[in-house]
Amino acid sequence: MYQDLLPSDRAKFACAKRAADFVKSGMKVGLGTGSTAAFLVKILGERVRTEGLRFQGVPTSTRTADLAREEGIEIITLEQARTLDVTIDGADEFDPKLNLIKGGGGAHLQEKIVATASKEMVVIADASKDVATLGQFPLPVEVIPFGHGATRTLVEAVLKELGYRDPQVAYRADGDAYFKTDEGNYILDLKLQAISDAPRLSQKLNQIAGVVENGLFLNICSSVVVGFEDGRTVTKDKSGRSHEVNVFEQGESDNLFSDIED
Ligand code: 5RP
Repeated sequence: MYQDLLPSDRAKFACAKRAADFVKSGMKVGLGTGSTAAFLVKILGERVRTEGLRFQGVPTSTRTADLAREEGIEIITLEQARTLDVTIDGADEFDPKLNLIKGGGGAHLQEKIVATASKEMVVIADASKDVATLGQFPLPVEVIPFGHGATRTLVEAVLKELGYRDPQVAYRADGDAYFKTDEGNYILDLKLQAISDAPRLSQKLNQIAGVVENGLFLNICSSVVVGFEDGRTVTKDKSGRSHEVNVFEQGESDNLFSDIED
């Protein structure tokens, strides 16, 4: 089936397929959000139907919950699960220490809550997400609608205090309206180019009362599975070890994935 996919989707499919191997029956699994995570959910749904895989999924967004239900995956809430064996999710950027920027899909709040309730977080990403320094991708910051203009001013002041030159702070839009998260909040996207001290930035942003959570995931991710168009996957862990597997050489069965949109 992967021959029918666009080259960029083949890389997403490859890493999702590899990471799906980590899910075993009896596990409680956090299910990420985004186009790469959507491949994962489809692949896991296929394993539920054809292999009898039995696991419980905790989705990180209403989008993922809807897709997982369509796929026949058993869904439970994080309240019911409390702790998870693993969360598998996409990312907008990852650096050599496996720190991340997430939230391109506007779901980083639930994604961070679910990932930090998990024993492990596995990121699935194509090679375009691999960066030396975080920050080319705009950093999402979720803010409460009440007083959002004042919160934005405080965010700009933090960036100035931390020495960011000419940072641009923009509301994420949904057509003519503000984009709204699953919690009904807004998102500010911070165009910083390069983030020099991510822990300090994260801490300063989260100290602002109107900020709910920012998209920096620091010391949360345990490993990254990088996917390539030719089916290769390279799994990297925090200690710098890596392991290569080509999922296309393992064989595929059908074309379930051609309808994925996210
Ligand atoms: C959603 C996210 C996504 O995981 C991130 O944006 C990557 O998405 P994609 O796999 O579509 O590139 O953080 O909030």
